[in-house]
Amino acid sequence: MQLDNIASVKGFRNDLISWFKGNQRDLPWRQDKDPYKIWVSEIMLQQTRVETVIPYFNGFIKKFPTVDALALADEGDVLKAWEGLGYYSRARNLQAAVREVHTSYGGVVPNSKAEISKLKGVGPYTSGAILSIAFDIPEPAVDGNVMRVISRIIASYDDISKQKTRKNIEEIIKILISKDDPSAFNQGLMELGALICTPTTPSCAICPVQKHCKAYEENVQTQLPIKAKKTKPKEKKMACAFIKNKDGQVLIHQRLSVGLLANLWEFPNLEINDENPIEKQLTDFLLTEFSLHTIIGEQIFHVDHVFSHLKWDIKIFEVELLSSGEKQNERSVWVSSSEIKAYPFPVSHQKIMNHCLKGEI
Ligand code: ADE
Repeated sequence: MQLDNIASVKGFRNDLISWFKGNQRDLPWRQDKDPYKIWVSEIMLQQTRVETVIPYFNGFIKKFPTVDALALADEGDVLKAWEGLGYYSRARNLQAAVREVHTSYGGVVPNSKAEISKLKGVGPYTSGAILSIAFDIPEPAVDGNVMRVISRIIASYDDISKQKTRKNIEEIIKILISKDDPSAFNQGLMELGALICTPTTPSCAICPVQKHCKAYEENVQTQLPIKAKKTKPKEKKMACAFIKNKDGQVLIHQRLSVGLLANLWEFPNLEINDENPIEKQLTDFLLTEFSLHTIIGEQIFHVDHVFSHLKWDIKIFEVELLSSGEKQNERSVWVSSSEIKAYPFPVSHQKIMNHCLKGEI
């Protein structure tokens, strides 16, 4: 593939687009070019696989079919619809940005790079994806898949975890992208990355752009792209309390409105140290934070949960209440096993709920 040769660029572009048109998957966000739906899909697809996203996308669009519906929705309902997808700041930022479109743009998603890029949570990838897919504007949309495909096409050994490499790839896409069908071009690159030019065993034998690929020519496709190793996630040891009151209600707590998993609900828990007995740390915590006198019972469950930068190792204890349990803090509530389902929980605490309330919910 020669970037300075028009025939070579056009050949690549045409082969990619005709393959995409004949082979694209039938995905729910490809049914129409509604920029709102494309926006929702692109936010959900960040760090999440297509198969996982499909049911969430369908449920979300059913609940919040338009910009205005999402703008006017309660944040708790939005988080509930996102429950299990992870990276919840995506949902909060999406709603904040959609509220901005509702109030400042009359509910119409703007189609200029300058305006769309100002919206919360809309970075260069998302703005490029919405502008190209929904509005047919030739803007690059460079995610991990696209970086892999392009690194192989031009046999680049640049580290794709570096900002500079992403910028270079954006410049290359600006040359390559079809001005007639930028939507099919960008989606073609994404689809090629997902179906053919896969990370470990690319299907070069059936690749529509094999003849344009320098990595294939040099037989280095499995060595590319180069990506610096991430540092290992830091491990946090946690203890978590499953407490029922005399009416059979369970104590849950809402996380802070900022930071990791903001505003989601959880069972009371704390980070523990190795110096003191876990039982003592948990009773002290329940007394100071929730004004509850308790006795710690058996460990009943264990959950490991890995985030991109952090690992939680949570031990869950059955806790017996000594005081009446009427006093708690402002961000906690006693709920019955039927009420608990209305609260949005992160995946780790959903697992705890499903285990501890087995047969009740
Ligand atoms: N990954 C990111 N965006 C995508 C899209 N629009 N279709 C399929 N996979 C994707």
